[in-house]
Amino acid sequence: MGKKIIIGNLKTNMDYETVVKYIERIKNRITYPAVILVPTSLYVPYFKELNIKLAVQNIYFENEGSYTGEILPSQAKSMGIKYALVGHSERRKNLKENNQMINKKIKAGLKENMGIVLCVGETIEEKVLLETEDVLKRQIFTALKGIDDLKNIVIAYEPVWSIGTGKIPTERELINTIKFIKDFVKELKRGQEIKVLYGGSVNIKNIESLTKIEEIDGYLIGGASTKPEEFIEIINEVESLV
Ligand code: PGA
Repeated sequence: MGKKIIIGNLKTNMDYETVVKYIERIKNRITYPAVILVPTSLYVPYFKELNIKLAVQNIYFENEGSYTGEILPSQAKSMGIKYALVGHSERRKNLKENNQMINKKIKAGLKENMGIVLCVGETIEEKVLLETEDVLKRQIFTALKGIDDLKNIVIAYEPVWSIGTGKIPTERELINTIKFIKDFVKELKRGQEIKVLYGGSVNIKNIESLTKIEEIDGYLIGGASTKPEEFIEIINEVESLV
C-alpha cells in the first residue's frame, strides 16, 4: 500500500501572531512527504517557507473573471498550491454549497491540474435514519458528474457529527462505509480506484486504532493539526506504521 496521506486543515483557527508561532514550532520537523497543510488563505505566503505541500480550503468554479472574495484555481496554482479541499461540510452548511457547485469547482480545479480533496459525509439525522449510503451516493454521483479521470481526486469521508465533537465512527462502521465509497466509485467510473481518507476528530488518542484500519488511505485532521506538538506526534505515529 502507498503512503497514508495526512492533511492538516487549519480552518480559521489562528490569528497572525499565532500563525507565526505555529510556523516556528513546526519548521523543519515535518519530513513525512505525504503531509498537506491547509492554512487560512490569507496566511499562505508565510507557510511557503515550510517546504511542505499546501492546499487551499476552497476554490471558486471559474478560472478567470471578477468574483470578489473568492480564490480562483488559477490563482492558487500561481502561488505554487497544487491541492484544494472542495465541499467541506462547514461550507455546505454555512454557505449552502451544493453538490452541483461542488462539481463545477472540481472541474475548474482539474482544469488547472490541481489535486482535489472532495469532502463528503452524513449528518447525525441522516445517520439515525440509516441514510448514510444514500447521502454519500448522491454527494459523490453529482460531485463527479462528467469527470472521467479520477487520478487527481481523493475523497475525504467526514461524518458531519464527527467533526470537532470528539466522536468517531466504530471500526466496523468505518470499514463498511469506506469500502462502500470505494466500490461505488469503482462501479460509477469504469473500474477506477479512488483513495478515501477519514476525517472527524482524529487526534493523538485515536490515531493508533485508526491506522490499523487498512481501508483508510489517510486522514483529514482539523483541531489536532492546529496544535503543533500533537500534529507532529500524529504524523510520527502514521510514519512509523507505513
Ligand atoms: P476535526 O475537523 O479534526 O476538528 O474534527 C476535521 C475537519 O473538519 O476536516
